Amino acid sequence: MLKRAFGTATGIKLIFGCLFISFLFFTAFVYTSEVPETVSPAEQELALKGKHLWQQNNCSACHQLYGLGGYLGPDVTNVMSAKGKGELYVRAILQHGTATMPDFKLKPDEIQALVVFLKDADKSGKADRSHFRTDPYGQIHQTNTSQP
Ligand code: HEC
Repeated sequence: MLKRAFGTATGIKLIFGCLFISFLFFTAFVYTSEVPETVSPAEQELALKGKHLWQQNNCSACHQLYGLGGYLGPDVTNVMSAKGKGELYVRAILQHGTATMPDFKLKPDEIQALVVFLKDADKSGKADRSHFRTDPYGQIHQTNTSQP
């Protein structure tokens, strides 16, 4: 009975009509629903500048982001939210260097950009090594998917 109804010209028109209306509703929904903006465009631009500075100064020769990079310095993915560290600590290190990290003579706006870049990196997830597992093929899997 149902099969016969859908086989008729009216049935086909009805199906296409329903699909078309669904399509219109979905299109309207997609184009009108608000996309959550987590960072302002100005901040995004600054983070991008920080990323370029990160590359120009070859920070990854000594530091890792998500475990990738050199090993003279620590992984800095989550330095901004690390206990006892954070923005002021990072600013101090970027301003003067340490006994083992060179002073890059960064200008205040460059330090600001690097700080925003590192904050952005921090927001992107957790890079605690204990949360990753390597399979026999050398692929890395995140084991705690509940973490952002
Ligand atoms: C020659 C290697 C080297 C380079 C290049 C280098 N760093 Fe470092 N960095 C270090 C070392 C080593 C430490 C640890 C210093 C200490 O604890 O005294 C450090 C510490 C830091 C810290 C604090 C990390 C923490 O968890 O305590 C930050 C942030 C940082 N560096 C950012 C940068 C940035 C940004 C650049 C590029 C502009 C950079 N570093 C380039 C060696 C380097």
